[in-house]
Amino acid sequence: MSYFMGIDIGTTATRVIVIEGETGRVVAGTTSEYPLDTPQPLWAEQDPADWWRGTIEAVQGAIQQGYDTLGTAFEIKAVGLSGQMHGVVLLDDQGEVLGPSLIWCDGRSQEQCDYITDTVGAERLIELTANPALVGFSAPKLLWLRQYRSDQFNRAAHFLLPKDFIRYKLTGEYATEVSDASGTLLFDVANRRWSERILHLLEIDGSLLPPVYESFEVSGQISAEAAAATGLQAGTPVVGGGGDQAAGAVGNGIVQPGLVSSTIGTSGVVFAYAEQPLRDPSGRVHTFCHAVPEAWHVMGVTQGAGLSLRWFRDEIAGPLEKEAAQKVNREIYELLTEEANNAPPGCKGLLFLPYLMGERTPLLNPQARGVWFGLTASHKRAHLVRSILEGVAYSLQDCLAILLEMGLPVTEIRASGGGAKSLLWRKIQADVFGREVVTVNASEGPAYGAALLAGVGVNFWPSVPAACDATIVVTSHLTPDPLTQAIYHRYYPIYGEIYQRLKSLYTKL
Ligand code: XUL
Repeated sequence: MSYFMGIDIGTTATRVIVIEGETGRVVAGTTSEYPLDTPQPLWAEQDPADWWRGTIEAVQGAIQQGYDTLGTAFEIKAVGLSGQMHGVVLLDDQGEVLGPSLIWCDGRSQEQCDYITDTVGAERLIELTANPALVGFSAPKLLWLRQYRSDQFNRAAHFLLPKDFIRYKLTGEYATEVSDASGTLLFDVANRRWSERILHLLEIDGSLLPPVYESFEVSGQISAEAAAATGLQAGTPVVGGGGDQAAGAVGNGIVQPGLVSSTIGTSGVVFAYAEQPLRDPSGRVHTFCHAVPEAWHVMGVTQGAGLSLRWFRDEIAGPLEKEAAQKVNREIYELLTEEANNAPPGCKGLLFLPYLMGERTPLLNPQARGVWFGLTASHKRAHLVRSILEGVAYSLQDCLAILLEMGLPVTEIRASGGGAKSLLWRKIQADVFGREVVTVNASEGPAYGAALLAGVGVNFWPSVPAACDATIVVTSHLTPDPLTQAIYHRYYPIYGEIYQRLKSLYTKL
């Protein structure tokens, strides 16, 4: 049998899985959590050392678990990486990390975004990189570091993305791949290479940037040092892998036109396969290289999807609730969504705007903030929870609407991510979208996609679509309920209008 490992450097944890190539089954899956620091509003930082510690723990755990499942030692033929996109890791010439990583949801760099837009020109920027300057992306974060942390920036010899930092720790190689490089705003997405022009205009030294691979290509081998730390075999090939969205799409089989995924993780993403690097002239959605050669993807991102429910869990439900869930051996999320089921669709006119970390699609406004609108004394906690699930679905509908407007075909929507585990949240999505929502057998998303890419890299499968065909099937269908759909149809425009009316107040705030 042939085994492949997928390592996903998430925002809250590293997830490591081992899959059996012949059957596609997951034989091991372990998670190791780490903190996210938000020292000021808009700031979001992580310590790359935590990702590495999480990787070591989770890889060791997965190898042990695989051994327990299979009852025998087994060989991992290749490793694939996936991870949260856009984060900036600066290393000195000895490969030492120079400071905390500003991660994808860090929104401090609006000033640098404005500078980039002014310097390059809004239209030209979309022409060169396929995307506008957004605080989420890496280039504005790099410029922020250059301006406000010059001690770090001036000593930097390498810039790496989060999963590529882990690649460096595993293999000693500085490298990235096309899908994650796309989210830096330094990449010529249409031609799949760094943009000399942008680097020149922004006065960024190209030698900071690593070589770029296609996602399935082997980018290095596990070093002796990493082998000793993790239990992997020295010499095991490590493929390019993908940003979490592209790798997650591979893990959901989104590898042909018409297929779209709706993913609720910390962020929420509606992702469509594209045969061309189609751009939205107003930059509301991102156009990035897919983890499939000669393919791209267009996606809308809502910043605070699962994050909104996690916030409710941590700040409103609180520790007592956690204890209660533990006592009955259930996940607190399950209990919360069960409670939400007691509230009616539309929550008696209670609407939630999930902008707890600002918003990308379609608002492109890091200053946007969360709102509950329509609260009355008759609302119970169940309504609060359900309104969060509905608000996130409205924000995903905002994304889907733009993909449709751009003419992308949408024949099937596959729900994925932690949010897809909830039947209620999937139903709400089907009813808000007014379309069937399906799920697939593979529920591991990015880690699964990374493992498939590893298999393609060592020719176990001839191509990424072939790997998906061999392993991924649709397992459930949910069709919208016309009555509920009508309720959401009524509330969705109000949801949009609340933001429009509050927009100027956010700035004052
Ligand atoms: C994509 C994005 C998120 C992060 C974290 O543009 O910002 O997917 O990668 O999940």
